[in-house]
Amino acid sequence: MVSEGRGFGKVILFGEHFVVYNLPGIASGISDYTTATVEDGGPGTGFQLVDIRPQSPGYGEKKKEEMSRQFKAIFREFSIDPKSTPLQVTLAGNLYCSSGIGASAALAASTARALAEKLGRQLSDNEINRLAYIAEEAGSGTPSGIDNTCSVYGKFITFEKSKESGTNKIDVLSTDEPVEIVMASTGITQETRAVVNDVRRKKEADEAWFDGVVKQYTDIYNTAPEAIKNADWKTVGELMDRNHELLRQITVSCDELEHLIRLAKDAGALGAKLTGTGRGGYIVALCPGKELQERVAGAIEDEGFKVLKTSVG
Ligand code: MEV
Repeated sequence: MVSEGRGFGKVILFGEHFVVYNLPGIASGISDYTTATVEDGGPGTGFQLVDIRPQSPGYGEKKKEEMSRQFKAIFREFSIDPKSTPLQVTLAGNLYCSSGIGASAALAASTARALAEKLGRQLSDNEINRLAYIAEEAGSGTPSGIDNTCSVYGKFITFEKSKESGTNKIDVLSTDEPVEIVMASTGITQETRAVVNDVRRKKEADEAWFDGVVKQYTDIYNTAPEAIKNADWKTVGELMDRNHELLRQITVSCDELEHLIRLAKDAGALGAKLTGTGRGGYIVALCPGKELQERVAGAIEDEGFKVLKTSVG
């Protein structure tokens, strides 16, 4: 029997870096997804992985160990030992796997769903999310939970890191319709930990300055969930621009990101900001409607950058 599961990619719309200091943020699953297909392996073949996901050069090799830990954790949770029960997992789908898009969480969520189906277990989204978190933890250490939650629900979520080491607060934010976005990659990969540490140093060097930035971010956050719920994309776009200005102030933008943002805004995006770690990685531009989405994506592609036309919510 062949079983299939799906896990979505993610984008952070508000609050990267600020969430590190226990401020709330907003993220969403995107409509691009990874599929995991699970089938019985031949006798004595153990666990076999076939990875045909579209991906950036070197991605699979770089993630090999991490993926292996993720699969082991998921098999353990389902009490499966591939030595006695050979299994083949095929990863596919239209999510372009590169850093910052939640690809490892999409792997975890899709595999957990596929295995649950194969074993005839009716698991709720909450249970799948718990398994995906365990796999993420095994893969990369101390995940916030944003990625796996976006991956499982494919919707907007609000997120707040726990002040102690307890569970982070994550709520799904319901909207009626998904909305189009364009994501564009600078092609630069940054190590999140290094950038987060640098921001922390700047904060500690001038707490009053950072408090001022936080105050402005809080104003943005207080308006954003309601604007999203009401599909007031003009306001959401303005808030994204304002959020990006604060990310500039804390020095996590860079020339390449600024260039992409300018291209998106000139082509008519309602809002555009860096998403994730910054100093490279992706921008996200809000472009309601297929026509605007095509125009913004085209303007960026014409300059030779890789774009993703997808939707959130
Ligand atoms: C990275 O995707 C988001 C950061 O806020 C770090 C984190 O939340 O762990 C920069």
